[in-house]
Amino acid sequence: MATLFKDVLILDGSRTKAQRVHMLVSKGRIAEILDVNKTPPGADKIISGHGKMAVLPGFVNAHTHAAMILLRGLGEEAPLMEWLQNKIWPVEEKLTPDYIYWGTLSAMLEMLETGTTCFADMYFEMDRVADAALGAGMRAALCRGITAGAPGKIERSLHENLDLAEKYHGREGLITIQLGPHAPYTVPLESMKNISQAAKTQGLGVHFHFLETKGELDNLGMSPEKYLEESGLLEVPYLNLAHAVWLDPKINLESENITLIHNPCSNLKLGSGIMPLASWLERDFPVALGTDGASSNNRLDMWEEMRTTALLHKGVNQDPVCVPAVDALRMATYEGARVFGFTQKGMIREGWCADLVLVNLDKPHYIGVNEENLAAYIVYAGSSGDIAGTMINGKWLYKNGEYPTLDKDEILQKACEARTAITQ
Ligand code: NI
Repeated sequence: MATLFKDVLILDGSRTKAQRVHMLVSKGRIAEILDVNKTPPGADKIISGHGKMAVLPGFVNAHTHAAMILLRGLGEEAPLMEWLQNKIWPVEEKLTPDYIYWGTLSAMLEMLETGTTCFADMYFEMDRVADAALGAGMRAALCRGITAGAPGKIERSLHENLDLAEKYHGREGLITIQLGPHAPYTVPLESMKNISQAAKTQGLGVHFHFLETKGELDNLGMSPEKYLEESGLLEVPYLNLAHAVWLDPKINLESENITLIHNPCSNLKLGSGIMPLASWLERDFPVALGTDGASSNNRLDMWEEMRTTALLHKGVNQDPVCVPAVDALRMATYEGARVFGFTQKGMIREGWCADLVLVNLDKPHYIGVNEENLAAYIVYAGSSGDIAGTMINGKWLYKNGEYPTLDKDEILQKACEARTAITQ
């Protein structure tokens, strides 16, 4: 089935200005982009934009724990370690595979409504998360969160993670799998070496929390540089470091296999600090954006992360040109897709995957918008409330309040039941 976006503005992280075009989507791909003055091709479905709709690449949430929507609101306004140890970990003990499945689906409703087409998830019972994503047709980069605990727990979790890769990596072009050691404070260095070795042997990336808090840096026992080297993480095919709030941009590291994942709202809410993003960008270091779990954000709204990123670093650096709007858009879209192994996604180009967000510009806060200033309007004036549709692989997964591939009522009911069960 072909869909024609007739007379829309297209914008992505590689364009400083938008283009007014007709765009044809066919067989899951962007088949044709034509100047608006040309005659548009025929299609089964036509979205008439009248120059008042924009199409952006779908957002990629590069770090989250989707099923943690079930834990939203627990232990508010507490420091990271106190929050994890007293409020989160005891409740997580009660999560069953079914609860995680329904929690993930409920998170997917939120993500699709706010324009996310792909999410990078670290949690457990990840085969159920993969089934949830595949069932809906949503893209996901998944890893089994690996933490120490009872004897043999790390080895069992690594085994599960490797099984997950064997079963799901590359499935339907929707899923990639990484290894997911949780953090330096939950995985001993010797185990990290084994995990890095497994990643190298299997050709898998690693998704890892690194230096979220000052305390974590103080307790690392060695320099971050030495830790990354000793643990073998510098040699894995790709390494995605979530947070990196306390990683010094002056560190002597090559960026060839490393991407940082900035989670500004979660870091602000937990009082962890602010990543020195401007210095990383000056180094041309790749940075993607994520929300982190809904229990520390508390939203799963990538538009908000994009806006916060663009505002926060201007303020911190007293520099109004720091993190231009279009750079924030690129970090929220293309960078996340690229670093989790998804190719030809995150930009609006002929031949690339049709993972798209349709934005309604026919609203008061878009008065004055044009091709030149659309990026700034989107990032500073807009919000995810402007989203009219979210498309993945050329199929609508969210359109005008409806979810064509998901049963919203059933998901909400099951997620409510899970929440009640784990908090009783
Ligand atoms: Ni996290």
